[in-house]
Amino acid sequence: MVVIFVPKESATGETRVAATPETVKGMKKLSVTVQVERGAGLASGFLDTAYEEAGASLVDADGRKAADIVLGVQVPTAELCSAQKAGSMLICTLTPGNALDSIKALRDAKVTAVGLEFMPRITRAQKMDILSSQATCGGYRAVLLASVHLPQMFPLMMTAAGTIKPARVLILGAGVAGLQAISTARKLGAIVEANDIRPAVKEQVESLGGKFVDTGSPPDAETAGGYAKEAGDDFLKKQREILTAHITNADVLITTALVPGKKAPLLVTAEMRKAMKPGSVIVDMAAGQGGNVEGSKSGETAVVDGVTIIGDNNLPAGVAADASRMYARNTLAFLGEFIDKEGKSTVDIEGEIMGAVAIVHDGCVRHEPTAKAVQN
Ligand code: NAI
Repeated sequence: MVVIFVPKESATGETRVAATPETVKGMKKLSVTVQVERGAGLASGFLDTAYEEAGASLVDADGRKAADIVLGVQVPTAELCSAQKAGSMLICTLTPGNALDSIKALRDAKVTAVGLEFMPRITRAQKMDILSSQATCGGYRAVLLASVHLPQMFPLMMTAAGTIKPARVLILGAGVAGLQAISTARKLGAIVEANDIRPAVKEQVESLGGKFVDTGSPPDAETAGGYAKEAGDDFLKKQREILTAHITNADVLITTALVPGKKAPLLVTAEMRKAMKPGSVIVDMAAGQGGNVEGSKSGETAVVDGVTIIGDNNLPAGVAADASRMYARNTLAFLGEFIDKEGKSTVDIEGEIMGAVAIVHDGCVRHEPTAKAVQN
């Protein structure tokens, strides 16, 4: 019988967990044995007893060594990766570019390492798409975090003490995270503007009650898969010129612009930022990918020239229970891809989904950019 181990996440600040009592029940339907490290779900509000009731057994951290599959949120340290047995599988958010030591350890230990963030954006894989589920949580959380740092309230208020004007929120990049941020800011009563380079987005922004700031689109702005293509320097310069007035007017700026596989486009220079009102707040969701805002720092919050700049790189951890629920459902759907109801695991390493997400297999790094990086 396939043994699945769910560890307590070891990365600093990580409060999510890769399986919930609900998904343990789902795993049991695949006739697998589920072992959960004691306390794994505590930080996201899931008790050990709830896992036991769902059919898991509680084990200590050593459970990793004997497991056939380790189901995690973040990539473990190289030492933990080396502890997995040969032929076993690690399923997590692998971020190989930032975890080369772990990748080498997984390769040397002959572990199949699955990076769920490489899930192809095809209809069949939507239910396994951790980037979308976690970006939804991140977009929501970004607005709440901004609201806490902003010395203003979001909604219009007409009171005996006079009228309070609504906050103005500008969102740059209206993909999964951006659309969720628009929706959340609107629900809190803010006036919301948003910009994106994909023309299809205008209608989505407006349907959520936002005003679209049109900065035009580069030619062929969108790939067949619905992603943005990288805009050239001339386009970005023009875009920044148009955005300047909107940024100066905003109380809250949330940036989420991303082109997959590329460094985040620079949308806000230090000069544009300096023109913002003191007390205003920026959340740069792309800080971990190089940042949309000049001067934002991944994992840090700082007040610069009176403007609070938040570079939190784990916003979903701030809503750990729901982020875990969504992540865990994504991983359960992925397990169902290769484990049948009798508990038989069949890994088709060249398959449409497994071929895309298996970054390391059988002693080889299959993902070309990672293979190159590991050699250097
Ligand atoms: P997505 O691919 O769905 O959306 C990105 C959007 O940016 C697309 O709509 C694209 O058209 C747009 N874009 C690209 N270039 C642009 C430009 N020059 N100007 C305006 N828009 C542009 O990506 P998703 O899932 O919404 O993630 C967005 C960002 O948030 C990513 O950088 C992701 O890594 C990050 N993220 C950060 C989290 C955190 O904890 N800080 C949590 C989740 C996501």
